[in-house]
Amino acid sequence: MDNTNYLDTIANLCVENGKLQAIIESSTNGIIEINGEGDILSSNPAFYQMININPQDSDLVNLCDILSSLELKDELKTLLEGDEDLLVKGFHSFIGNSEQGEEKYFEIKFSRVPVMDHFYIIGIVKDKTDIMKALSNREDFITSLLNIIHEMKVDNRDSIYHIASLVELRDNTTGKHLERVESYTKTLATEYMNTYEDRDKRLTHTFVDDMAVSSILHDIGKVAISDAILQKPDILTRAEYEAIKEHTIIAGEALKEYKGQKDFLAMGREIATYHHEKWNGQGYPSGLKGEAIPLSARIVSLCDVYDALVSKRPYKEAYSHEKAVEIIKEERGRSFDPEIVDLFLKIHREFLKIRQEYKDS
Ligand SMILES: [Fe+2]
Ligand SMILES: [Fe+2]
Repeated sequence: MDNTNYLDTIANLCVENGKLQAIIESSTNGIIEINGEGDILSSNPAFYQMININPQDSDLVNLCDILSSLELKDELKTLLEGDEDLLVKGFHSFIGNSEQGEEKYFEIKFSRVPVMDHFYIIGIVKDKTDIMKALSNREDFITSLLNIIHEMKVDNRDSIYHIASLVELRDNTTGKHLERVESYTKTLATEYMNTYEDRDKRLTHTFVDDMAVSSILHDIGKVAISDAILQKPDILTRAEYEAIKEHTIIAGEALKEYKGQKDFLAMGREIATYHHEKWNGQGYPSGLKGEAIPLSARIVSLCDVYDALVSKRPYKEAYSHEKAVEIIKEERGRSFDPEIVDLFLKIHREFLKIRQEYKDS
């Protein structure tokens, strides 16, 4: 390469660098460069604005001191040593000392950028405080509703149904999904009771009735998920999918005072928290495996999935009953408890009858 070519290359690099700088400076997302210890090597104005710190304040040097995330240092270490090039810190990072003294919530995406024989870590920081506030307001809202039911001892199906319908109205699952899930649950749980009552003393008619009524609450946590995500007609991004998954944890939190009690809301909590767990441990939110998943959640999970399969959704056509049965059979021992699948295969025609009885209008 002659000198003119070198100069051209350098000139081009300078132009590209200038463009990049302009983008970083004007971005509304915070952009930071840190080392594996969390020391901030450089950052853009948006980041300083988010954390209400004057850029001249050079005392501010370590991200782990700003965020009250205890595991951040370990996670950065894993990122530097591991195979993954991306680490997403969800809504859980926050700081407590902003100007107004209120907590702020950040979502941070760290990328590992290789340079020669080492790595830089670049973090893109988004302020999620407003979203988190909206979420916690909704969480308070659902807690109050459920407390009202409890305090008034209005433990009848209609009251719970009305509250759970609030979610279904916002979700894309319209129609008679809740009635059907309740009815499938009653049928499958009754079959389970008739088969296994000798080995499990909990299996009574009251237990089965409680499970059927509580099944209505399975997606109650979606009250706290934003419409933008819940009603999105397109395929969800990874972050949006992660946000939807929160509906299980939110329900668990909202109903935490009923944990371990002998109350239909305690069973509602179990179902709402664990209905996305899978028999093989690959589900969420806790990755529970086998019988560690509450029986109520194992039964309702199959009923909920069956109804989703035979119903039309924005992203798919309705499958036939036969195809749904085939899919559930394939998931025996994977998504579902093998014993429960066997009982379903015995009585699946009952499911078809329920499906025909409660048609979506
Ligand atoms: Fe769900
Ligand atoms: Fe559902």
